[in-house]
This record gives sequence, C-alpha cells and structure tokens, in this order.
Amino acid sequence: MTQVFIGILAVSGLTAFLALLLEMAHAFVLNYGEVKLSINKGDKEFTVQGGSNLLGTLMDNSIFVPSACGGRASCGLCKVTVTEGGGPILPTETPYLEKDEQEAGIRLSCQVKVRSDMAIEMDPDLFNIKEYKTLAESIKDLTATIKELRLKLVDPPEISFKPGQFVQFRAPEYRGSPEPVYRAYSIASSAKNKNEIVLCITKVKGGLATTFVHEFLKEGDKVFINGPYGDFYLRDSDSEMIMIATGSGLAPLMSILYQMAEDGIERKATLFFGTYRPNDLFYVDELKDLEKKLKDFTFVPVISGATEDDNWKGETGMVTDPVKKLLQKSEAPREAYLCGNPLMIDAAVKILQENGIKEENIYYDKFA
Ligand code: FES
Repeated sequence: MTQVFIGILAVSGLTAFLALLLEMAHAFVLNYGEVKLSINKGDKEFTVQGGSNLLGTLMDNSIFVPSACGGRASCGLCKVTVTEGGGPILPTETPYLEKDEQEAGIRLSCQVKVRSDMAIEMDPDLFNIKEYKTLAESIKDLTATIKELRLKLVDPPEISFKPGQFVQFRAPEYRGSPEPVYRAYSIASSAKNKNEIVLCITKVKGGLATTFVHEFLKEGDKVFINGPYGDFYLRDSDSEMIMIATGSGLAPLMSILYQMAEDGIERKATLFFGTYRPNDLFYVDELKDLEKKLKDFTFVPVISGATEDDNWKGETGMVTDPVKKLLQKSEAPREAYLCGNPLMIDAAVKILQENGIKEENIYYDKFA
C-alpha cells in the first residue's frame, strides 16, 4: 500500500515538474520579447510583443488586413509585403502566392510570425479600415439554418461601405471557443443606412463564429466588427447583369439591388437564387418588391432538391441550369456578379465563359 502511495506521489511530482518545464519554455524559450514593426518605410512604427502572427499583431494595433477565413490560410486575402524579418515562406502560403509575388516578398500575414524586428509594406488605404462597436439589435431566423443579424452602430455611429463589401465579425471567447475568432460576412443592407448593417449568417457544423451567433448571441449584446473590405461591388457599365447566388451568398447581391433601386440604375438584371428546397429561400418578398421598383429586374428562384410535397412550379436543378438557357438566347454584352460556395462559383464561371462572358466581366465573392 505504501509503495502504491509513493508511486502515485512520484507520478504526480513528475507531471507537475513537466508542466513547470513547459511553462518555463513558454516564458523563456518562446518569449521573443519586444520587437519593432515598421510599416511603409517608417510611416507607422510599433513596438510589439513578439510571438504572435502578423495579422493579429496588426489588428492589436488597429490596423486591419482583409482576412475572410479568419487566419486559417484558406482565403489568401491577407497579403502584405515583408521586406525585413518574417522567416521563410511556409507551405501553407504557397498555394496563394504566385512565383513573382513570392520573389517580391509578398506573404500571408496570418501565417507569418513576428519573432524579430520586421518591416512590411501594405496598401495605405487599409489604414482607414476601422473597428466598430455595435449592438445586436435583432436576430431572426431567415431559414432553418440562416439567421439575419441586424447590428446597430454605436462607436463610431456610422459606417460607409460599397454595396457588395464585407465586414469581419468578432466572435468572443465562449464555452467551446477559448479565444476570439474573426469571420467575414457580406453586408446585406442598403449602404444609405449608415447607422446599422444586416448580416446573413449560415450555421456551419463546428463553425466557431456561426455557433456563437446561432447559440450564444442575444439581442442587446455588444458585438465588434471591422471593415469594410473587398472589391466585390457594382461596376459602372450599361451591360446586362447576371447575378447568381446560393444560400447566404444572396447577402451582397441584396445590398447591390438596394443600391440600384435607390440610385435609379435601370440596367437589365436577372438574379438566379439557388437553394435545395423552397423553404430555404429567403428575402422573397423583398426581391418581389425590388422587381416592382427596378425597371428591368427579374428574380429567378432555382430549387435543386424539390419533392412532390413541395409542389414547386418554378425552375429546378442546379442554379446554373437556367443561367445557361438565358445566355443562349442572345449575345448581349453582359456582366456577372456571383456569390456563394466555391464549387458553385467555379461551375458558374466556366458556364459564363463558355457562353461568351469574358473573364474580366465576371465578379465574384467566394465563401472562404
Ligand atoms: S486570413 Fe490569411 S489566408 Fe485567410
């Protein structure tokens, strides 16, 4: 019995010793101390604690770089040029960096660790991107898996954005998510209303930010966002517009359609909105209303998994099926605006190009 007791004591002691060693390793071996971060040849200079990634370090100093995937190296948006420090390019970065970009020192800021003095260059326009404190004014179900989140701007009290752009939403730490995470969501509301924005958030299994919104966020809670970001917005042209969305990819296209209605833009436009079942459609009343307000706008819902019980009389199949039919009717000059999952976007781009729409006239926002 005494031997068992001594054994337990020895194992506990060893475990405590190893834990202490680990703590010391973090405190001493992985402590990079303070390092200097210089931006755009000294335009901005910070002394920061080394050890974190560059994206987070910049964010801690109120400099916001687009990062639709929240730092998971799957969007490729967080590029900056590193001219000093930063270490070698990582395998997680290479899929997003062309050879000439690699040679020019362009890196994914979410993958680069700040471990020594570093000098970087970035678009000075990014210095205008702000963090906003907001209140969750309303949270409502659009479908079984998509919630509409209306955020009232508090500080600063107004946001300016181009319809089609996105913001990054900060989900704080909560049970099951030990640290804050950022995720990108397109703004679904009119840019004329600067005091609030609307986001459409799909529940993703295991998604940290979506779980926070769907299960933890309550009306009246404080929420932080930063932005706006992105180059998905309405181009100045007279060409006919083909708009294609699946799921919450409808959000930026709603904002663009509101802009067209408010600014009296009379371009011919057709929106193809694809969902699995009819009850996955949302904003249908708003879209029918836009059909009345806009001079030449048509809304085409497309259902891929309709059953007999649905009694669906509209278009069926892939969202791109009726697009193909429309494109084959004439060869009018066209522009396309797409938002949704990467598989849909890739398939749609291929069909659009095969049917005469040039690559430079296709604009898309792929979910990261
Ligand atoms: S934030 Fe770096 S790749 Fe998405």
